[in-house]
Amino acid sequence: MNLDGKNVILTGGSLGIGKETAKALVDKGANVLITGRSNKRLSKVVNYTGAKIIDFDIADINNITRNANECIKMLDGRVDVLINNAGLGVRKSIEELSIDDFLKVFNVNVFGLALFTKEIVPLMKIKNSGTIINIGSTASLKGYKNGSIYASSKFALRCLTQCWQAELRPHNIRVCQINPSEVTTAFGSSLRIEREDISNKLTTKEIAHSIISAIEMDDRGFINELNVWATNPFN
Ligand SMILES: NC(=O)c1ccc[n+]([C@@H]2O[C@H](COP(=O)([O-])OP(=O)(O)OC[C@H]3O[C@@H](n4cnc5c(N)ncnc54)[C@H](OP(=O)(O)O)[C@@H]3O)[C@@H](O)[C@H]2O)c1
Repeated sequence: MNLDGKNVILTGGSLGIGKETAKALVDKGANVLITGRSNKRLSKVVNYTGAKIIDFDIADINNITRNANECIKMLDGRVDVLINNAGLGVRKSIEELSIDDFLKVFNVNVFGLALFTKEIVPLMKIKNSGTIINIGSTASLKGYKNGSIYASSKFALRCLTQCWQAELRPHNIRVCQINPSEVTTAFGSSLRIEREDISNKLTTKEIAHSIISAIEMDDRGFINELNVWATNPFN
């Protein structure tokens, strides 16, 4: 897909991977709408990204249809690409598990994401084209110590990706999951403070590059899943 002139919704565009991807998409000529919970954080990145902004909490399940309709209206009724990037995580041992933590994470990473996508897919079906990028994680592929809540949410996302691929390929809609390993962002920071780059760890630029490469492939093909590792993060 040639991104020039395409309409893109990117959830979680105020920081980190979403912010860098939004800027790269705008540089390619796309009209990009980014979402986030904080209007203040979104306003701060308008100049950097060149994207339009809308603030709402994707975990607000009762208002998801209204919020999705507002996004669609801001893009004049056409959505060519949806990038499901907004996400959060907690680290808890089995003894510390609580339903509140499960719901906090699943409401964003799984339930909100799925119900938001449900609102966008009919537009893509009418056009018989579209691309959906789900941002998973290497935690979508393998569990790890204290990962019960986050990794199970990202495993669930991987399952959604596979189900949607089966349902949507006949409509020429491509669904791709991108699984980054550790990226130096504000992820996990309750104060939403971005980390400095570290020379041997992934930065948001490699993930933005992966997302854009997947979208730019000719529409006759698609990458079903892409894992992105740092080359040598061990020291
Ligand atoms: N960083 C990593 O090491 C890493 C590795 C693998 C996968 N990932 C995945 O990559 C994605 C982006 O992560 P990141 O590292 O860029 O994190 P980040 O820097 O914390 O950014 C997350 C973005 O999502 C938004 N967001 C969070 N909760 C939201 C909600 N309930 N409703 C709407 N927007 C919400 C945040 O904005 P507000 O806070 O203003 O709402 C922010 O724009 C996530 O899905 C994450 O799981 C990250």
